[in-house]
Parts: sequence; C-alpha cells; structure tokens
Amino acid sequence: MSGAGAGPGAGYQSLRWDDGILWVLDQRRLPGETRYIRADAVTVVADAIRTLAVRGAPAIGAAAAYGLALAAAPAPGDDVAAVRERVERAAVLLRATRPTAVNLGWALDRVLRSAAGQPTAAALSERVLAEAAAIADEDRRINRALAQHGQAVLPRRSAPVTVIHHCNTGSLATVDYGTALGVIRAAHEAGQNLLVLVDETRPLLQGARLTMWELQQLGIPAALMVDGAAAHQMRTRGVDLCLVGADRIAANGDVANKIGTYQLALAAKAHGVPFYVAAPLSTVDLTTPTGDAMVIEERHPDEVAVVGGRRMAPEGVVVLNPAFDVTPAALVAGIITEAGVVRPPYAESLALAMGRGRSSKIE
Ligand code: MRU
Repeated sequence: MSGAGAGPGAGYQSLRWDDGILWVLDQRRLPGETRYIRADAVTVVADAIRTLAVRGAPAIGAAAAYGLALAAAPAPGDDVAAVRERVERAAVLLRATRPTAVNLGWALDRVLRSAAGQPTAAALSERVLAEAAAIADEDRRINRALAQHGQAVLPRRSAPVTVIHHCNTGSLATVDYGTALGVIRAAHEAGQNLLVLVDETRPLLQGARLTMWELQQLGIPAALMVDGAAAHQMRTRGVDLCLVGADRIAANGDVANKIGTYQLALAAKAHGVPFYVAAPLSTVDLTTPTGDAMVIEERHPDEVAVVGGRRMAPEGVVVLNPAFDVTPAALVAGIITEAGVVRPPYAESLALAMGRGRSSKIE
C-alpha cells in the first residue's frame, strides 16, 4: 500500500524514514505543493526514483538503500533465505531505475555487502535498515564537510561573488544540506556576499523549480535565467565561478552531470571563469576509466516537447532527450569533496582522495 501524505512535519526533507515507512518529498510538485509520498514497498520507491519524485545522485542512493530496507522487512513465516531473495530482487528493480548516477549502484552494493552472512531473517532485516540509515547519516555529515572545503575556491571580498549554478544540488538532491548548493549555503552562513545566477535547467526545470525554491527559503540572493544566458552573463557581467554537482565522475576526472553542464563548462573556459564540481566521493567511480564509458540516460520525448501540460512541438517530431552530458576533465578546475578540493591531474588525485576519504572519519 502507498499513497500521498502531508509528510514528515515542519521544514522539508527530501526523504525520511519513520517507523517502517519511507516518506519521499514529491519534487515533481514543487514549488507549488509540498507533498510527501508514503513509500511502504520497494516498488513505490523504484517508481519515485524513475519518475524523479526523488532525484539528485545522493538522494537517489539513500532512497534506494531505504527501498532495500522496505524489501527486507520481515513477514510472518519468513526465513533468512526468503528475505535475502526479496532484497536481491529489490536491488535488481532499483538498479534499473536510472543508469547514470553512480550513487544508486554504490548504495545498493554497500547495503548488499553489509547484509551478507546474516544468520536470521530478523538480523538480516535489521542490518539492511542500519546500513541504509548509515548512508543517510553519512550524507548529512559529508555534505557539511564538503561545503567547508569548498570555501577555499570562493574569492574573499565584500562585493558580491557571482556564481553560476546548474540543475539542483541542494537539500532536495541529497539527504540534507546539498553539495554545490551546500558550498553556496555555507558561504552565505559565513557572511559572504553572494549572487547566484541559476540556470533554469531545461527540460524539467530543476533550477527554476527547485534551486530557486531552496535559495529563496535560505535568503540567498539569486537570479533565474534561461540556460542559454550563461555565456552572455559571463561576457557582460563578470562571473567569478561556476559551481555544479555530479552524477558520476570517471577515474580520469570526466564528469557526468545534468544536460547543459558541458556547454556551461565550455563557455566558462572561453571566458576564463573557473569551473568547479562539488560531489561526495560516493559519486567517484574509479571503475569507469573515462566519460566515454558512461551510460547516459535518455528520457521520454514528452519531457522536451510538452511544457506544463501543453505540447510545444508538432506531434511526431523527433526529440533528443539525454538527461546528462559529460564534461571533460580538462574543463574542470577542481572537484570539491569531503576529503578536500581535488585538482588535476585527476587520475592520481582522485585515487588518492578515495583512499583518504575511506580512511579518514568525516565529522
Ligand atoms: O535528473 P536529476 O534531477 O536527478 O539530475 C540531478 C543532477 O544532475 C545533479 O546535478 C546531480 O545529481 C548532483 S546532486 C547533488
């Protein structure tokens, strides 16, 4: 059983586990309506990920982990083999929902590994939930650490620092606080004078709907613009830096992120604007050598052709709708992680940071 509900109370949270239920903020309805999906079965979670009710690489990972916890909930007469089989089937279902964000597979594998060898159905079920909760808790801590490291890339001055941001990387895209938007948020909390230029992020307007909503609530000065305005702003206004998130970072530093990121990075290069990526190390995939090996999700043509329920393109036209693109490492000035700001050459620095991230405790 599932359904929509008023949700988990004051403020907003992308997702929250409460007494055997995963509450998922339905981001498709924002900013107009704050409604939570009551997920009490893994199929509801899979559907929420597939339809972008929950989206953003870290939030997808945490939601998927809790999806396994739902599948692992003990039913009368269950033995350990039955629960294990249900969890494994749930992992297959969840893994197939979206292909590009590596945090999804990373979270599923982490939970599956931790569940191995549990002796009883109850122990297995408890372990799966504990690991999902650990992933969510770590995400909160990691984002705050990452945001502090990110302060090093912002110019220090009293006049406003102008930042271009693409897509949504805030609390909504994570369990809490955000990645690139977390860096911006921490700077604002430290008293930095900022102006955030927000790409609307076609086709699904994560920038207009979600990032503007979050920035408005945080009281951070921001202006919304169409994606095509970024180069113009760089040429005419002076932009200090671009700050974006990531869905997968290859071993050589190539970055998959929301479609439009690559052209933003190209414009930044042409105007001498530093282009930074902020992401947890769980977004780094050392098994993918370069961006060429990444699977880029293609989504339904209607996401492009239909806007606000109205068809904008003639019926039957061919539509290309890649949800992500790959920004070559050569365009990326630095990758802000919980282990520090990683600089080129990325083949060495990312491998080092992954080692450091694993061995250092992030408080
Ligand atoms: O399709 P979406 O909305 O899931 O795409 C999200 C992005 O591309 C984000 O920039 C990325 O996941 C980083 S979120 C901290």
